Amino acid sequence: MKISVIGTGYVGLVTGTCLAETGNEVLCVDIDEKKVARMRQGEVPIYEPHLDVLFDRNIEAGRLNFTTSLEEGLTHGDIIFLALPTPEDEDGSADLSYVLNVSEEIGKKIKEYKVIVDKSTVPVGTAEKVQAVIAKNASCEFDVVSNPEFLREGFAVDDFLKPERIVIGSSSERATTLMKKLYNPFVRSGNPILIMDEKSAELTKYAANSFLATKITFMNEIANYCEKVGADVDKVRVGMGTDSRIGKRFLFPGIGYGGSCFPKDVKALQKAGKDENYDFKILDAVIEINDTQKTALIPKITTHFKADLSGKKIAIWGLAFKPETDDIREAPSIYMMNALLEKGAELTVFDPEAMPNIKEKFGDTLTYATSMYEATKGADALVICTEWSIFRTPNYSKLKELLVHPVIFDGRNLYNTEDMKSEGFTYVSIGRKDVNV
Ligand code: UDX
Repeated sequence: MKISVIGTGYVGLVTGTCLAETGNEVLCVDIDEKKVARMRQGEVPIYEPHLDVLFDRNIEAGRLNFTTSLEEGLTHGDIIFLALPTPEDEDGSADLSYVLNVSEEIGKKIKEYKVIVDKSTVPVGTAEKVQAVIAKNASCEFDVVSNPEFLREGFAVDDFLKPERIVIGSSSERATTLMKKLYNPFVRSGNPILIMDEKSAELTKYAANSFLATKITFMNEIANYCEKVGADVDKVRVGMGTDSRIGKRFLFPGIGYGGSCFPKDVKALQKAGKDENYDFKILDAVIEINDTQKTALIPKITTHFKADLSGKKIAIWGLAFKPETDDIREAPSIYMMNALLEKGAELTVFDPEAMPNIKEKFGDTLTYATSMYEATKGADALVICTEWSIFRTPNYSKLKELLVHPVIFDGRNLYNTEDMKSEGFTYVSIGRKDVNV
């Protein structure tokens, strides 16, 4: 099939590349000329495991092409994916200007039947708006469908190629048939393609992300309570998660959720509710708790150092909002580092992928280490913000030699508290008893 993808951000690029992988002829459109030139040379503009291999293979096979011309994109594809940004507006709602501006152009330019697919995370009712904007100028038939993505950064290729479900909001038989044909190769395992109305599809995305953010937040509250009563959240987590009605995933407490989706989507659903005079009280609480949770380690650090952090050298491991990505959007590490800097601490930081992004944001207010161990040299304590695998089994003796004091504040509960006791570390984590040496 001939597919066009408008917007080569994270979602657009993964979608275009993976659709080319199943033999479709894909043309990706972006207004950024430099980016398009780089992609034509085979350069992947984002860090996402496995994407580079698929990218090279499909460019070489001539199935994956790039252009800055929207017109070319609109002529090429039978199905046109809109993977445009929907940034958070000042009032928390999703800004639809990119989606609607491109829709206006689509109306003016299409000359034969097309299926327009909303891939961006958009509020309920957007498909209707897109339909109306295109219809103003369109001189041919077209359909608009909603097809939310459920890609996790770091696992996006796998999530796209082997989805647990595909959600399609469509009220047109013709469009539904084409969409099923496109996605059938991805659900050979028997996972479902769920066809529903456009509004339900749009809400499914917000509801899924808000539910997961709520699940994490609930666990963070249980962790905080565990600290008050001397229970161990790891044990509670396993005790709860083995109930299949609850499930084991997304129950890991820590210094809060971040990233480009959860914070934005929870706020957008909260705002969308308010617009309909519906108060999502649970989301108000989730947002408030997560904001506090991002700096949950700060009071523990100030208590340890008896309030004064001026001149204290602190090493930070992990800056990305989660492992396997260089994305620092809404990363808890940023909130942690700002709070520590404000209290006068000197920070030396390390992350396997996110250093350039953090450097751009923090400049010379931080010291940038070239390895995880270098970051800890001469530090009064180590603070862990992201659970990268390489941090999971450090050389404890080396770490003790490098740190001035063997003190670890762990925002992601990477280590077993008993192990830390026997290794001789003061170890403070989330929802578990502190180890003091
Ligand atoms: C999320 C959704 O999972 C995906 O389906 C959607 O399309 C986009 O948003 P992503 O933002 O890439 O994906 O990250 P995810 O792995 O879901 O983690 C989100 C945040 O929750 C991270 O900050 C992570 O550290 C945190 N988290 C996750 C926890 O704190 N505890 C957990 O148990 C799981």
